[in-house]
Amino acid sequence: MKINPAYEQKITEIIEDMTIEEKVLQMLQISDQGNEPGVYEKFIELNTGSFLHELGESTDKLREKAKQTSSKIPPIFGIDAIHGHSLKNGATIFPSQLACACSWNEELIEEMGAMTAREVCADGIDWVFSPVLCMARDTRWGRVDETFGEDPHLIGKLGAAIVRGYERDGNVISCLKHYIGYGEATGARDAYDTEVSVRKIRETFLPPFEEAIKAGASSVMTAYGSISGTPLTKHKELLREILKEELGFCGFVVTDWFNIWSMRTKQRSAESFDESARLAIEAGNDMSMNCKEFFESVTQQVKNGEISEELINDSVRRILRVKMGLGLFGEKVRPDKSVIGCSEHRELNKKLTEESLVLLKNNGVLPLKEAPAKIALIGPNADDIVNQYGDWTFTSHRPSEEWAVIKNDYYTLLRGIKEIFADSEVTFAKGCDICGADSTDMEKALIAAKNSDVVILALGDELSQNGEGKDRAVLELSGLQNELAAKIKELGKPVITVFITGKPLCVREVCELSDAVIQAFNPGDLGGLCIAELIAGKFNPSGKLPISYPRASGAVPCYYNRYTGWHWGKYCDVDEGSLFDFGYGLSYTEFEYSDLSVSKKEIGAEEDFEVSVTVKNTGNMDGKEIVELYFKDMISSVMTPEKKLCAFKKINLAKGEAKRVTFKMNARDLAFVNPEGKWITEAGEFEIYAGGSLDTLLTAELSVK
Ligand code: BGC
Repeated sequence: MKINPAYEQKITEIIEDMTIEEKVLQMLQISDQGNEPGVYEKFIELNTGSFLHELGESTDKLREKAKQTSSKIPPIFGIDAIHGHSLKNGATIFPSQLACACSWNEELIEEMGAMTAREVCADGIDWVFSPVLCMARDTRWGRVDETFGEDPHLIGKLGAAIVRGYERDGNVISCLKHYIGYGEATGARDAYDTEVSVRKIRETFLPPFEEAIKAGASSVMTAYGSISGTPLTKHKELLREILKEELGFCGFVVTDWFNIWSMRTKQRSAESFDESARLAIEAGNDMSMNCKEFFESVTQQVKNGEISEELINDSVRRILRVKMGLGLFGEKVRPDKSVIGCSEHRELNKKLTEESLVLLKNNGVLPLKEAPAKIALIGPNADDIVNQYGDWTFTSHRPSEEWAVIKNDYYTLLRGIKEIFADSEVTFAKGCDICGADSTDMEKALIAAKNSDVVILALGDELSQNGEGKDRAVLELSGLQNELAAKIKELGKPVITVFITGKPLCVREVCELSDAVIQAFNPGDLGGLCIAELIAGKFNPSGKLPISYPRASGAVPCYYNRYTGWHWGKYCDVDEGSLFDFGYGLSYTEFEYSDLSVSKKEIGAEEDFEVSVTVKNTGNMDGKEIVELYFKDMISSVMTPEKKLCAFKKINLAKGEAKRVTFKMNARDLAFVNPEGKWITEAGEFEIYAGGSLDTLLTAELSVK
């Protein structure tokens, strides 16, 4: 966000008229969950600065209430609109962030952000707690589904795109979370300590935040965890010095849920709530999420002189700046509620869902050239919308009575297959559950498979295995799924496997026995329709993985941009590398890369240069291709990754068509962070790689003087 000088004087005047109590209330966000009865009501009367998870009419009521208080400052309403306005029954549910990342499509993701903002704003809400810019490198972590994957460059570009979308109309603000290093917790234990250096933070974890701040993000959420033993909530260097002073972030910082209490009770890093609140404010947090004690504690400490009123004024200024920018002080005109779940949003959702699917294997069985007479659709995720939606929707976060009737016009795979293969006889059997050893349905599934011409097998994970606090120690397919797949294989039918999951699982056995494999990370409302259309060849798959697949649970992390130097480069008991690499994904056509060239042989440390490569569609179908550009610093004073993504482009190529794709680069794109914490491009030799996946790259050379 940018400072609007016209508002700053007004804000100064408002702050001058505010009591300390009113100021501290602005810094509090309160929920009707997690507090004793009566607390929420008390804070409504007091005119608290922010509420979370209210929907629709209740926001109108609370806004009206605020007008009747002495300060009259309007509240700001926040919500976890993580993949669409997803906590609302009937709103558009887009694919999860991880699924969207498979599209590598900044334009579509920006539109998704804009549409989500429209639905949220129509529903009385001003603030989405999205995007998640955490890095999913240890995939045992429960929140992998919420991320854009494992690569800082891709996360930064997609994060910036969605922020542009969310904040485009000036009606809604985004929230970058979780600041910072949250996904990197030791053992992938959610909200746990992270053992990384501040140098590593700067080089790997900070760039996506920087990119999204440049794109206009107005708020940031402090992570639950700690870095090398310092809770993020009191990490002054990272919050106040780096985020606010160095990056010039002028929006506000909100803690995560109960962070201030957690610093006292779980992290045991403050003597008392008072101390915890003071440290949090001094470190740079401007708003406390849902700690009711914050009000009295901070008010008292400001009155006693233990917390400087200047710090409070700065936080209040940041919050009011955002509120004013959102037009909350006037009579805000919100989009009509009819935008919620509207057909325009559904159309975009369709395009994004198509591009979110990744074809991982195809021995030629796909697309199905002719509709099979008999299809056996088997598997626990063939008709389960709760697992298909994944985390952060009304089905995961709202009481089930509220969604006994789902208002969304959603497609599970069963509905999609029946509709797209309307002339085929479709037999459905679950076969087994995702978890547990109940085999009562196995026989039915095997009979269906035996009597079919083709088996479509929908496996994966379930809600209990994805989300906050649902870290997994075992990433292999759970329950009887491997057994089901193996028994089906014995019947000798073509097997098309669809994984509907929140994250990459260890799926080597099933991939080996399948003729084709499609990955659908929680694909939202239209997942089942798009998967069925992909199988039928109604569109050409173009998704590529934003994350690597481990070969075994014990082989995580296996992210591609790691350092080299490991003795013999592999575990002794599993094959080398990932099962599927970052950047991998098949198409129904083929793309040929040639003539990689760099515009200059030698460049200065800040000089521009161009990289060009020709891409030709040599197959029989029009298609979209993601052109990936990587580099390697051949010798560097501090170790640098084996390969690092530095640019990408998604292009359309008709069959037979060739395009010359040019990337405008600067030597700074080849930089790393030195031990003093500065980005430098060191003189020396570099290799530049371009291609459609890590194992098919062309190489060119470049020197930096
Ligand atoms: C999560 C955040 C979320 C917040 C509010 C926390 O538990 O970590 O991502 O925005 O709750 O629901």
